[in-house]
Amino acid sequence: MKEKAKLNINNSELNLDLIQGSESEVGIDISKLRVSSNIITLDPGYKNTGSCKSGITFLDGEKGVLRYRGYSIEELAEKASFLEVAYLLIYGELPNTTQLNKLLNDIQNNSIIDEDIKRILETFPKSAHPMGILSSLTSALIAFKPEKKISLKSKEESYEDYMYSNIVQLLAKIPMLVAWVHRRRKGLSLDYGNYNLGYVENITKMMFQLPNQEYIENKVIIDAMNKLLILHADHEQNCSTSTVRIVGSSEASLFASVSAGISALWGRLHGGANEAVLEMLEAIRRDGGDTKKFMAKAKDKTDPFRLMGFGHRVYKNFDPRAKIIKVAADKVLNDLGINDPILDIAKSLEQEALEDSYFIDRKLYPNVDFYSGIIYKALEIPNEMFTVMFALGRLPGWVAHWREMRNNKEPIGRPRQIYVGEKLRKFNHINSR
Ligand code: CMC
Repeated sequence: MKEKAKLNINNSELNLDLIQGSESEVGIDISKLRVSSNIITLDPGYKNTGSCKSGITFLDGEKGVLRYRGYSIEELAEKASFLEVAYLLIYGELPNTTQLNKLLNDIQNNSIIDEDIKRILETFPKSAHPMGILSSLTSALIAFKPEKKISLKSKEESYEDYMYSNIVQLLAKIPMLVAWVHRRRKGLSLDYGNYNLGYVENITKMMFQLPNQEYIENKVIIDAMNKLLILHADHEQNCSTSTVRIVGSSEASLFASVSAGISALWGRLHGGANEAVLEMLEAIRRDGGDTKKFMAKAKDKTDPFRLMGFGHRVYKNFDPRAKIIKVAADKVLNDLGINDPILDIAKSLEQEALEDSYFIDRKLYPNVDFYSGIIYKALEIPNEMFTVMFALGRLPGWVAHWREMRNNKEPIGRPRQIYVGEKLRKFNHINSR
């Protein structure tokens, strides 16, 4: 793009390059601004800041568009498997059968975790939050050396081989941790998966198999899991993905970067919203089901209550993932023969919000987390595990961004600040304060 942006600061004019993306979105390149003017930009929450160029996910918040590597989320959720989507996000193209089988085989060959990890898991109180455990265990795994280090001596091994090996280890081991965290909460034995099963089929079996019963695969559950994981698989530069990229930019390992991403996802304004939504819906039901009362609380600026599962930094029309999940929630409840009053409360809340000027004016619509918890609940996954399921789905996205960041040789992430603290002052000894 040839055009420049002109910036006039104290009568001196600066020409800044305009960068255009493949979907015509435009950014002003300010990377040399400080060098030429000694001035920085200030943008708390990075509401207007692009942190990188990325070819992974395209999102148009005004139009409600979400695409992974050019493929629409609607089509992928309908037709693809989660592992195909993982490959697509990480490597840029849909895999052929040979490529997909190789990835699955490599994952299966590495899906053993050192038994000592069980001992670490058992030292957590049963009441510990699963997201804290998952983040800690992801970090703890590094001590058991699953990660390959890049060889500085051998030229035989390419950088891509080194990354592939670490990616496979992560995709193999995290689902096991997820299953173990879930089983320990339920007081069940911590088993290994089945080598012959597909990726999602194996995860589902590891989570739900009971020790005293033959495990029978339920297609409704597998389909729902597959869809949910795909819908969560990536969402460009969100809080946790930006965390993974920034931690990875210091050359911290993939496991360390993802452990940090899990912690970032935990918060209730991000992935933790799915747990918060269900808590909110259950609180409304216990309170008698008066949705209008909670709508009023959400609009009251003196009340810290927010309608969880509503609003999004980027989507200002609708969240395409929420549309797919709403239909899926109806189907899962129907197929499993569950009649959950929580779904009715969710629907009335949504209807009221869609007609309310507070929500209309602020462009607040249901997001992905509004309905996902209803499906997890129907699958008998406890509330506190919801965000762990989100983390499981987001793994390929974190991995894809970590790989892209490394391949682009991005510099260490290190924002500036505008200092508003005290100016230089003299130190007073403690006796004279
Ligand atoms: N309930 C009531 N008011 C809201 C809500 C809500 N859920 N969300 C935003 N607002 C109001 C907010 O008070 C503000 O009003 P005003 O302009 O009068 O001060 C206005 O809308 C803009 O909100 P904001 O907090 O400045 O917007 P943001 O872009 O910084 O935050 C958000 C986005 C998602 C953190 C926020 O909408 C929120 O807290 N939603 C509830 C939590 C939630 O569902 N999070 C999951 C997001 S989707 C999953 C993911 O990708 O992580």
